[in-house]
Amino acid sequence: METKKLLHSQVAIVTGAGRGIGKATAKALAAAGASVVLAARTEGEILGVAREIKQAGGHALAIPTDVSDLAEVDHLLVLTLRAFGRVDILVNNAALIQPLGKVWEVSPAAWQRLIAVNLIAPFLCARAVLPHMLERGSGRIINVSSGAAESNLEGASAYTASKAGLERFSGTLAAEVDGSGVAVSAFRPGIVDTLMQAEMRQTPAQRFPRVGVWQKWHRENQLRPIEEPAQAIVWLASRFAEQSNGQLFSIDDEAFRAQIASDLGAGVLQPRNRA
Ligand SMILES: NC(=O)c1ccc[n+]([C@@H]2O[C@H](COP(=O)([O-])OP(=O)(O)OC[C@H]3O[C@@H](n4cnc5c(N)ncnc54)[C@H](OP(=O)(O)O)[C@@H]3O)[C@@H](O)[C@H]2O)c1
Repeated sequence: METKKLLHSQVAIVTGAGRGIGKATAKALAAAGASVVLAARTEGEILGVAREIKQAGGHALAIPTDVSDLAEVDHLLVLTLRAFGRVDILVNNAALIQPLGKVWEVSPAAWQRLIAVNLIAPFLCARAVLPHMLERGSGRIINVSSGAAESNLEGASAYTASKAGLERFSGTLAAEVDGSGVAVSAFRPGIVDTLMQAEMRQTPAQRFPRVGVWQKWHRENQLRPIEEPAQAIVWLASRFAEQSNGQLFSIDDEAFRAQIASDLGAGVLQPRNRA
């Protein structure tokens, strides 16, 4: 199908849009017709993504933001509304993987910092956009989670706790907005070829005991390209996901993949090659 008009006239905020899944998501949303606001700390990266989107004929605005900072998030919303007048889609994608290490060995400050970025920031961003979405009676909030939400992944306690918390936050928020026209969903993107993955497989086994599994996935070329979760997020942001409030989606779910391929005709969804 013609995806260019799928999100025509809609406005999306994507956090962590400077690289990895967030970058591909911003580009895919823009290709589907949305105006995209790119939020991350590294200005050079989001400016580069904005440039790519504009060169492809899309609309984008880069706003350097630390999404764990209340004032910066509120400012992000003000600038978004000033530029585009509305917000239809929020993709809470920004996250940290560090610190990796046993609970009694990691820095408490780093553990708290991860929770601030992976869990508190999605709350701050949702809190900022929701009055606007509720007033208009429509909106989509997509929280990028991880299979780690239900894994006792030794060495990654902050990350697993943050993603488990994010999924519960998603479900609770979905219950709070039920019937309002706003839909909140959580999404697990699978094992994706990004800097976060590289950080994990380069961590010594003493700090991350299952590092060998991550190295094997990489050796065997089993990582997903960033475009795959990006297409899934486009689907979640679109009219096809009208009934998505409160649901958890996983890219590893074959029925979900088939639905995306059927609705978007997305050739980027490759057959799964991971055992
Ligand atoms: N890659 C995977 O295999 C995988 C698997 C499961 C789930 N996920 C999830 O998918 C999402 C994207 O992961 P990724 O692999 O694409 O990560 P990535 O390559 O490490 O990119 C993370 C992005 O988040 C941004 N970010 C970090 N801290 C931030 C902050 N305080 N404020 C604003 N932006 C911040 C980074 O930009 P700055 O540093 O410039 O701020 C960057 O743009 C995350 O939620 C991750 O947990 C990934």
